[in-house]
Amino acid sequence: MGSKWCFALVIISCFVVTGFAGGQEHIGQYSQADVEAGFNLYNANCITCHGANGDSVPGINLRTNEFRRVSTDSDLNRIIQTGIPGTAMPPGRYNTAELAGLVAYIRAMREFDTVATGRGDAARGQNIFEEKGNCNSCHRVNNKGSRVAPDLSDIGAIRSPEALRRSLIDPTASMLPLNRPVRAVTRDGKLISGRRLNEDTYTVQVIDTEEHLISLIKADLREFTVLKTSTMPSYKDKLNPAELDDVVAYLRTLKGSR
Ligand code: HEC
Ligand code: HEC
Repeated sequence: MGSKWCFALVIISCFVVTGFAGGQEHIGQYSQADVEAGFNLYNANCITCHGANGDSVPGINLRTNEFRRVSTDSDLNRIIQTGIPGTAMPPGRYNTAELAGLVAYIRAMREFDTVATGRGDAARGQNIFEEKGNCNSCHRVNNKGSRVAPDLSDIGAIRSPEALRRSLIDPTASMLPLNRPVRAVTRDGKLISGRRLNEDTYTVQVIDTEEHLISLIKADLREFTVLKTSTMPSYKDKLNPAELDDVVAYLRTLKGSR
């Protein structure tokens, strides 16, 4: 009798838990927010061994959920925390929210990719990248293109499809603090504009619009401004939604050599 009640309670609580997330966007049974958080944690902590597609450890494919020891979400939770003694799989200290994100991402990895990439066509996307979008005039991919803007050769492994789409639609809002464009004027009046690569208290390293790497001593500058708007144009009106899908699909394939 007691165990019957217990069973019923488990079902009810499952129902309540899934019911709660009702208003959010979902990928399968997991919330989009959890999956995105997991994507970022995965890229920071797991990708070096398991790879961008989750299949670098022989016999294990996290993307298609082919496991050796894992069947339930709580197995995943446990293994991520304890690691697997005697193997290269390390223990990890994550809080409850982070664990939920990692589990959600592993469970939804495959759908996450297809949902987010939509019906985009990577080959068409590459063509738009090189022709109509003229992205190569600023970005470099696999040793081709300019160094004025960040190299995108592994962008598909380090940014979520959502983040990639945001970069195209609203570059200024998605700008990373380090990548900000800068404008410097030296004591003798020389103007340097470029992209900040690194900065400390006394110096700043910039790659200028001619692709020269320049190190500036701040004390030698008459003016040093970090600009708040991206030099990347928004493609919101330059490309239609289908073309944006194609470009995102192409960027998703850029996973460097990892
Ligand atoms: C230093 C390399 C390394 C890192 C980092 C790493 N793993 Fe692993 N992981 C492994 C190896 C190797 C195995 C396979 C162990 C074995 O079965 O021999 C494994 C196994 C697993 C398994 C168990 C699969 C199964 O069914 O047995 C899961 C799940 C897993 N890793 C998830 C993760 C997650 C999530 C992260 C990041 C939070 C992570 N791993 C980070 C190397 C790593
Ligand atoms: C005029 C130069 C320029 C052009 C053209 C340009 N970009 Fe950018 N892009 C940048 C710069 C500079 C950044 C670095 C951060 C910022 O300013 O937004 C950037 C950032 C990005 C990022 C984010 C990188 C990250 O680390 O998250 C993506 C993705 C991107 N661009 C894709 C594209 C694509 C695809 C095209 C063509 C459709 C394109 N860009 C065209 C200058 C450009």
